[in-house]
Amino acid sequence: MPQPPHASCFRPDVLAGKVALVTGGGSGIGAAIAARLAEHGARVAICGRTQAKLDAMVGEIEAAGGEALGHTADVRRFEQVEQVMQAIEARWGRLDILVNNAAGNFLCPAVGLSPNGFGTVIDIDLKGTFNTSKAAFPLLSRAGGVVINISATLHYAGTPLQTHAASAKAGIDALTRSLAMEWGPAGIRINGIAPGPIDGTEGITRLLAPELRERAERLIPLRRFGSTAEVADAALFLASPASAYVTGAVLVVDGGQWLAGSMALAQ
Ligand code: COA
Repeated sequence: MPQPPHASCFRPDVLAGKVALVTGGGSGIGAAIAARLAEHGARVAICGRTQAKLDAMVGEIEAAGGEALGHTADVRRFEQVEQVMQAIEARWGRLDILVNNAAGNFLCPAVGLSPNGFGTVIDIDLKGTFNTSKAAFPLLSRAGGVVINISATLHYAGTPLQTHAASAKAGIDALTRSLAMEWGPAGIRINGIAPGPIDGTEGITRLLAPELRERAERLIPLRRFGSTAEVADAALFLASPASAYVTGAVLVVDGGQWLAGSMALAQ
């Protein structure tokens, strides 16, 4: 089924003067969010583990007339995300928008999963979200900033082969709500986005066998997978003043897929 076109509903300068950081911004959903924020006036930093991906994305944003900065960092390492904050402060002197998007995942039954395998996904997704948020707090609290945590719908029901990722994503949603309570008085809004099956992502490549696609699409109320641009539009809304009174919310962007039960894709 064709996807709708993506002319923006927002003014092109809605984020003018703002600075954003997108973790895992070199590819997939993170790259789409970085590009969308830049198209709307934000200067955008991206971080990730692979320099080449960051360089390519920085080049893309700059070719479109935006300003970007790529910095390698593993979100599992607090000192590395602190270095990213220092680079952003040195270059632009502020940070207004943090998108915690970096994630790792694979399919594995719990009995076959090593404690280190479970812990690795928790470390990237959940601890990475905490690490980056904590490191960003001094800058965000100066700017009256916004945090957007990318989770998933895996934990809305039981999801086989995904105990590690579902646990991590549940933790991220808990972090979203708890930080919204703690940091609201500092003028910081913390919201989440829970994407469903999104084309052009490592998640779909890694987690869904191509022969299951047609069946999966039939189980989604909107009868198609989403696009990275559609998730990026949700992020733009949450980054913009259009969501000024929204905090602690998790916006599900999945075509209604979770309503059919998350087992659907695994069976
Ligand atoms: N099945 C079972 N266990 C796996 C696994 C798989 N497919 N892939 C990795 N693991 C285990 C490893 O065996 C290891 O545990 P062990 O030391 O007990 O053997 C542990 O996970 C760490 O693996 P390692 O490859 O050292 O981790 P890494 O830090 O290099 O990579 C991953 C992290 C595993 C999450 C990797 O898939 C990754 O980098 N992903 C990033 C992109 C991504 O996943 N995107 C999708 C988002 S939906």
